Amino acid sequence: MYKSLTFILIVIIGIANARGFSNIKAENIRHIKSFSSQKNVGLDLCPTCINVADESINILLNLILDTGIIGTCGTLCQALAEKTGSEILGTVCDIVCDVVGIDEFIKLIEKADLDPIWYCEIAKLCPVNDHGDAKITKFTILPPTGRQGQTFTIDFTFVSVNGTGTGELTIDIRTPDHIPLGTGFLLQAQKPGTYNERITVKAEPDPQCDPTQQPCEQWLPGVYNVTVQICNGECGSKHPHSAIYDTGRGTFQLTG
Ligand SMILES: *[C@@H]1O[C@H](CO)[C@@H](O)[C@H](O)[C@H]1NC(C)=O
Ligand SMILES: *[C@@H]1O[C@H](CO)[C@@H](O)[C@H](O)[C@H]1NC(C)=O
Repeated sequence: MYKSLTFILIVIIGIANARGFSNIKAENIRHIKSFSSQKNVGLDLCPTCINVADESINILLNLILDTGIIGTCGTLCQALAEKTGSEILGTVCDIVCDVVGIDEFIKLIEKADLDPIWYCEIAKLCPVNDHGDAKITKFTILPPTGRQGQTFTIDFTFVSVNGTGTGELTIDIRTPDHIPLGTGFLLQAQKPGTYNERITVKAEPDPQCDPTQQPCEQWLPGVYNVTVQICNGECGSKHPHSAIYDTGRGTFQLTG
């Protein structure tokens, strides 16, 4: 349990950074794993791959830009393996590069257009389901009102008739001080069924946030608009095996 939570936290940071969301402490927004005891469809290699995909993509970009290593999939991916000291990263890179072709692979990396879920689906380490679906049937935020320091709990249920593909759960919060907050969580492929999910949001400024470096959420009094999306693939991705399954909306209020 602890181990999988660590993975989730790593994945959150990876995906959140890739999506260019504002910086937010991992403790501020948490995803509490599905209460259901359904086992995932995929092997556990999927979250591991998502985790290394981010690292691989960044290092590959540096290799291409700094050293101009291009040539073949073999030379590029071998350079990645050497740089990271990991044969596995090199092997996954080789598989993906061979499938899309070296020219397209380099283009995708240079355009920062290679999202980790798609990368791991091409490598056949994350399962694909193009007939998946998910419908949000319940969505609550409690308490509706609180003071700064309050933890708000977003509980929602989704029902899937055909199961889901490897995807993402995102939360986006529109704040009164107009600093967009949000993050994404890996949602592993699921069998048909009913799933209960919980995300908690702690409405408390981060004392470590440096306003000269980045916008720092102040958690001012007002109404906070919350949007949650369940997606196949990365939310907003234009790649194959990607779609928004459903969107849930709600609000909470901070009082002064
Ligand atoms: C489930 O899959 C079938 C075919 O595989 C498709 O016709 C149907 O539309 C899917 N259902 C939903 C709710 O997407
Ligand atoms: C929240 O949504 C309401 C209704 O759409 C809108 O009037 C309000 O400006 C939104 N608040 C923020 C902080 O975006």
